[in-house]
Amino acid sequence: MKGVILSGGHGTRLRPLTHTGPKQLIPIANKPVIEYAIEDLRDAGITDIGIILGTNMPNKIKDALGDGTKFGVNITYIMQGEPKGLAHAAATAKDFVDGDSFVMYLGDNILKSGIEEFVEGFDESEFSSRLLLQEVEDPRQFGVAELNDEGKIIHLVEKPKHPKNNLALVGIYLFKNNIFDAINKIEPSWRNELEITDAIQRLIDDGFDVDSFVVEGWWKDTGKPEDVLDANQLILETIEKDISSGATIEENVKIKGRVIIGENTVVKSGSVIKGPAIIGNNCEIKGYVGPYTSIGNNTKIIESEIDSSIIIGESVIQSDKRITDSLLGQNSKIISDKVTYPKGRSFVIGENSIVKL
Ligand code: G1P
Repeated sequence: MKGVILSGGHGTRLRPLTHTGPKQLIPIANKPVIEYAIEDLRDAGITDIGIILGTNMPNKIKDALGDGTKFGVNITYIMQGEPKGLAHAAATAKDFVDGDSFVMYLGDNILKSGIEEFVEGFDESEFSSRLLLQEVEDPRQFGVAELNDEGKIIHLVEKPKHPKNNLALVGIYLFKNNIFDAINKIEPSWRNELEITDAIQRLIDDGFDVDSFVVEGWWKDTGKPEDVLDANQLILETIEKDISSGATIEENVKIKGRVIIGENTVVKSGSVIKGPAIIGNNCEIKGYVGPYTSIGNNTKIIESEIDSSIIIGESVIQSDKRITDSLLGQNSKIISDKVTYPKGRSFVIGENSIVKL
């Protein structure tokens, strides 16, 4: 089997972060979200991976992932160009897939359980597709599946206003080669996209069988800032304590619970770090780092408190108010007006930024 990871899209709901890079590179526990998809495929024995690139700085993805050697996989890059829907993206992988069955994995989805069980037996089965589903509270923002008693899919609706049940489509799909014929037969939807749900419905209408698998562990589509913070919390729940021998922990520092600290990071005297939390390399920490916080490389926390947040990296925080539930892009600075003149709030913020005072 092959793997196809979709890594296009404009990531509009994650602006301003996506003005400077694709959303699939936003780090969750200091690791780009797309790397979790690569690892899931590899752990399911799928090492031939095509990555579909869009128009939002595709070279940043290539630079970050390279040819895949560092993950133990082979990566082939495929250009989608302008995003015209998930089915359009899938269609661009036809030559790469070359007749094999494949997993299509949306590069901003993250899943606790991995995909081994989901993939098992599909290649040899009579099914043309198998869909991963999860019960959710509000299915209106997802594709929704209707099943018969045997768990076969009978009907799919994309973002229904009045969902018939709460079984949402996770963004991970298994296909055989006839999905490409189905994609050729569909028309763009009301939002002018070729929808993958329409292509799968077409398979069903043409008499092919589509199977389902309901996943129990958590799943997140990291499309919005609050989902990114939730995913960060869920991944940090799974980390083990690991303080690099190259880190300096000064005296009178309290480190409680599962905390990862990288090389050349200095934790200054008097600081308190409460896990689960991860701090990257070359950071300087003086203050309080609370649970569910991920701090990227080369960041300084000066006499400040932070929790439940992601700092992507290269940032400075010197704040007299605790920072909480925040997502800070690369090279951000938050400086208290206690240490600058004139007194007062001062901002340089990008389009779609959110500041809560
Ligand atoms: C896409 C699919 C939807 C699926 C969701 C999962 O939606 O169209 O069926 O439930 O991914 O992440 P999007 O996130 O593109 O709105």
